[in-house]
Amino acid sequence: MRGFQVKELAHHSKIELSYDVPEPEPKDGEILIDVYSGALNFFDILQTQGKYQIKPPLPFVLGTEFAGRVAQNSPIPPGSPFKPGDRVFGAGQGAYADKMVAKLDSVLPLPDELTYEQGAGLYVTWPTSYEGLVGRAQMKPGEWVLVTAAAGGVGIAAVQLAKVLGGKVIAAAGSQEKLEIAKRYGGADYLVDYSKPEWQKDVLRITNGSGVDIVFDPVGLVQSSFKCLAWRGRAVVVGFAAGSIEKLPSNLILLKNISVVGLHWGAYRNHEKERIDVVWKALLELFSSGKAKPVTYSEIFSLESLTQGLDALEHRKTYGKVVVNIKKNDTVPAKL
Ligand SMILES: NC(=O)c1ccc[n+]([C@@H]2O[C@H](COP(=O)([O-])OP(=O)(O)OC[C@H]3O[C@@H](n4cnc5c(N)ncnc54)[C@H](OP(=O)(O)O)[C@@H]3O)[C@@H](O)[C@H]2O)c1
Repeated sequence: MRGFQVKELAHHSKIELSYDVPEPEPKDGEILIDVYSGALNFFDILQTQGKYQIKPPLPFVLGTEFAGRVAQNSPIPPGSPFKPGDRVFGAGQGAYADKMVAKLDSVLPLPDELTYEQGAGLYVTWPTSYEGLVGRAQMKPGEWVLVTAAAGGVGIAAVQLAKVLGGKVIAAAGSQEKLEIAKRYGGADYLVDYSKPEWQKDVLRITNGSGVDIVFDPVGLVQSSFKCLAWRGRAVVVGFAAGSIEKLPSNLILLKNISVVGLHWGAYRNHEKERIDVVWKALLELFSSGKAKPVTYSEIFSLESLTQGLDALEHRKTYGKVVVNIKKNDTVPAKL
C-alpha cells in the first residue's frame, strides 16, 4: 500500500512517498481503517525529524488525525460499536497511508452531515477548543473572548465555539487575510491584527476599556494579552505556535485577579477519562445540528503532494485544518 513512511529521521522535504508499505496489523483492542482523508498537524513536521515527544520506532508512517471507514478485513474487538464499512474519524499513528490501525477508544462515528475531509481534522483540534473554553475558562454567555491565531486549526474552532456559547468574540491573527477568514468561517465579531504594535489598545477600545474576560491562546501571547485582560480575567494556555514558552510575571497575575489555566487535551485519557465523552457528546451534537462547521484550508493535498501541504503549514500560510485526501472518491457527506 501507499504510505508516507519515515525510514530515517529527516525534514519532510527529504521524504518520498513509498508504494510498498506493508498493511499494518491491528493488535488487541485495535481496528483497521481504510483512510479516506488525513489532517496535518505542526507536530508532524517535528516528528519526521525526531523532535516531537512521540517518537515511533523507525520505519514509521507519518500522520495522526484521520477520517475513513472500518476496513472490511478489520478485526472487531469485543464490545466494539463499529462494524466493517462504518464511517469513522479519530487518531492513531500512520494516517498518511491507504490503511492504518487505531485503538478502539481513539475512534468515533463520523456524523452523517460531515465529509471525510471535514471529519479528518476533528479529533485533536475541536475538543481542545471546547474544553479550553468550557472546562477550563468556564466561559459564560455574554463574556468577551479573545482568540489568538484565530484562523488556525485550534483558533478558528475556538472562535466558532465561543460564538455558539454566546460570547462576544475578538479574533486576533497576524494578517488581514487571516482575519477575514476568522470572520467568514468563524463568525468573529471583531478583528485585531496582532502583528501591529500595541494591538492590545484595539482590544481595549472594542471592549470600551474593560478588556476581555477570556484569552484563548495557542500562540504564546499570554503575557502580552494581560494588557487587555479584564479584572478576574482567565487566560487559557493552549500552545506555543510562536516557538517559545512564556515565563509569566506573577505580579501581573496578582494585580488584576487573573487566573491562568492550562489545557492538555491529550492527557485527559490518563487523568479525566470521564470528561472525554462529555466533551464529544456536546461537539457531535453541534456538528449534527450544523451549529459548528469544520473549516478546511482551500487547497486539499494528495499523498503525492503531502510535502507541499506540510511546507504551507510550516511557513504559516494555511488556515483551518490542512487536509490530505487519500481516497479521491466518496467525499460527500452521507446525508446532505
Ligand atoms: N493544548 C493542547 O491540548 C493542544 C491541542 C492541539 C494543539 N495545540 C497547540 O496549539 C497550537 C496551534 O495549533 P493549530 O493546530 O491551531 O496550528 P495551526 O493551524 O498551524 O495554527 C497556528 C497559527 O499560529 C500562528 N503563529 C503565530 N506565530 C507563529 C510562528 N512563529 N510560527 C507559526 N505559526 C505562528 C499562525 O497564525 P498567524 O499567522 O495568524 O499568526 C498560525 O497559523 C500548536 O502549538 C499546537 O501544538 C495544543
